Amino acid sequence: MTDLKNDRYLKALLREPVDMTPVWMMRQAGRYLPEYKATRAEAGDFMALCRNADLACEVTLQPLRRYELDAAILFSDILTIPDAMGLGLSFGAGEGPKFAKPIERKADIDNLPIPDPENELQYVMNAVRTIRRELQGEVPLIGFSGSPWTLATYMVEGGSSKAFTKIKKMLYTEPQLLHSLLDKLADSVILYLNAQIKAGAQSVMIFDTWGGVLAHKDYQYFSLPYMHKIVDNLIRENEGRKVPVTLFTKGGGLWLESIADTGCDAIGLDWTVDIADAKARVGHKVALQGNMDPSVLYANPERIEKEVQSILAGFGQGTGHVFNLGHGIHQDVPEESPKVFVDAIHEYSKQYHQE
Ligand code: CP3
Repeated sequence: MTDLKNDRYLKALLREPVDMTPVWMMRQAGRYLPEYKATRAEAGDFMALCRNADLACEVTLQPLRRYELDAAILFSDILTIPDAMGLGLSFGAGEGPKFAKPIERKADIDNLPIPDPENELQYVMNAVRTIRRELQGEVPLIGFSGSPWTLATYMVEGGSSKAFTKIKKMLYTEPQLLHSLLDKLADSVILYLNAQIKAGAQSVMIFDTWGGVLAHKDYQYFSLPYMHKIVDNLIRENEGRKVPVTLFTKGGGLWLESIADTGCDAIGLDWTVDIADAKARVGHKVALQGNMDPSVLYANPERIEKEVQSILAGFGQGTGHVFNLGHGIHQDVPEESPKVFVDAIHEYSKQYHQE
């Protein structure tokens, strides 16, 4: 395996010294890039793009050709696991995800298989292997999965949701049923992420996009323990290097201490959190990733630079910060904004990394 030419993303996650703050953007491969739309049209639809290792590799690399990003993220989706369980995933034009066979009753859960990553999900592992080869050690590759709770919301609601009425009804009327679903999902995620690591992912991130819709106590019962179990069972060292794990709960700012207690290496922050406060609370235990509001990219370059400087100053001196947006980049940001953002981080962060 080639040595990494740029490992500041991995080092910052492990709170080892770096020369400047590393940066990548959630959803950095996507519809804000015209070349992404062209490749997706060539593939046919979104899942066809995910299933084609060469095209998935192509769209993974597209943002890296434009911007000086410090990491690549596997092009795929969190919903590959429920799809492999047989729920029948589709993405209608201009719509969110839909499942043909959502989870409604106990038998649906009892009958769910735990997918074999090198069988039903082999297309994901093939994409990881292809991307890793084509990256040629330029930057590390991030693998990912949804959290059990977040995956369960899509499986029970049948797609995206605003009020989460079906899964909350299950949570409050048949909690054991929900726990049996979350258990199966946690086991599936462990196999899936470990297979991504064996295939070449150098770090992994768990997206708990909907953890923040849970009541305070419910988060501690229905999301966090399942992520904790995953962290406990991940391969943490491969190819002679540590494989850092990042947990991102959108809306999880109240729970940073308990998230840090899972033993993860880093916590992803959304933009509702003050990064200085987050560092004071958990910075002695974990690295922090984030946390600019993705909507700042609608602003002019001066304003983008100001926001970057303010977050860098909030984190302050030293390592342990991976710059990112607090959630995925919007589709319609001005074309010049991502470059202003990425370049500003590298330029203004050097002063915080002098020993
Ligand atoms: O970050 C990256 O560049 C890697 C690719 C990536 C995608 N989805 C590609 C994608 C990642 C990491 C994801 C994760 C994902 N998928 C999450 C967690 C992160 C988050 O944003 O909260 C969630 C909740 C999903 C589920 C999902 N996938 C939804 C709700 C949608 C539809 C919404 C939308 O943006 O259209 C998707 C589709 C999807 N996944 C797209 C992309 C680029 C858009 C599909 C298209 O090209 O039409």
